[in-house]
Amino acid sequence: MIEHIVLVHGGAGDITDSAKIPILLAGVKAAALEGYRKLQETGCVLDAVEYAVRNLEDNENFNAGKGSVINTDGEVEMDASIQCGKTLDCGAVTIVKDVKNCITLARKVMENTEHTILGAEGARRFAIDQGLDLMEPGALVTERRIEDLKRILAKRQEPKCEMGTVGSVAINSKGNLAAATSTGGREGKMPGRCSDTSQIGSGTFADDAIGCVSTTGHGESIMKVCLAYNILENHKAGMSIQDATKKGVNDMTAKVGNTAGAIAISHNGEVGVGFSSNRMSWAYIKGNEVHFGVDQDQHDIETITI
Ligand code: GLY
Repeated sequence: MIEHIVLVHGGAGDITDSAKIPILLAGVKAAALEGYRKLQETGCVLDAVEYAVRNLEDNENFNAGKGSVINTDGEVEMDASIQCGKTLDCGAVTIVKDVKNCITLARKVMENTEHTILGAEGARRFAIDQGLDLMEPGALVTERRIEDLKRILAKRQEPKCEMGTVGSVAINSKGNLAAATSTGGREGKMPGRCSDTSQIGSGTFADDAIGCVSTTGHGESIMKVCLAYNILENHKAGMSIQDATKKGVNDMTAKVGNTAGAIAISHNGEVGVGFSSNRMSWAYIKGNEVHFGVDQDQHDIETITI
């Protein structure tokens, strides 16, 4: 019998400030727990990954939702995607302004439209039609992100590779899988830039016959290798999901440069975590344990009360 698992990541990147680590780990553990509780309540893996990602979108310490970076016009433009492994149904949004939880909007695109990806003003209008929470224009732009952009534009600081995209993958006792990913994108990006996070096969992929994956990192590189699908191809070829995940991100860095991270669950409930950046925060709940880490080869375990 397969056990319920909800696994999340809080973004891969050059996380050089060690003071941030306890904050990131607390954030990913809380999000995994929220997704797991939802999975215990409804049994639905789409609910699990949506609620885990919503929790991270509401946490200003991650680059999605309230913590999103800004583009060179000083605006927040967000992307998100979600896929159901049982049906392969999927939904995504790109270049979205003012929507508090883009992952919920992506799920609405999947469930309530004939389309797969909605972008820009059309996506925002659809969010209003669907009764989603919208922020006042500009309310998602924070002082911290304005200061970051000023430093980048003045060329006093390279973009920090602060990808910080968030994501979740989950499996239930029936072996159903789902994946979800959400991002504010890259610091100092051009207005109108779409990320890998909005692309099924690059940022997000789920197929009950193989596994499910959510990726994070340098989006332009991730799209060149269709990273989420590439990891599952490695697994289909006979690798463990852990080896397939590590190989996927390391091959991407070797072939096209830049760094990435990914989380995965195989169709039989094994977990994969890998990143070619120096750090990536991640956590998963299985039974009464939370597993977590942020440094290469770190895998800590604590007992929790669900
Ligand atoms: N992977 C997120 C981004 O490049 O925007």
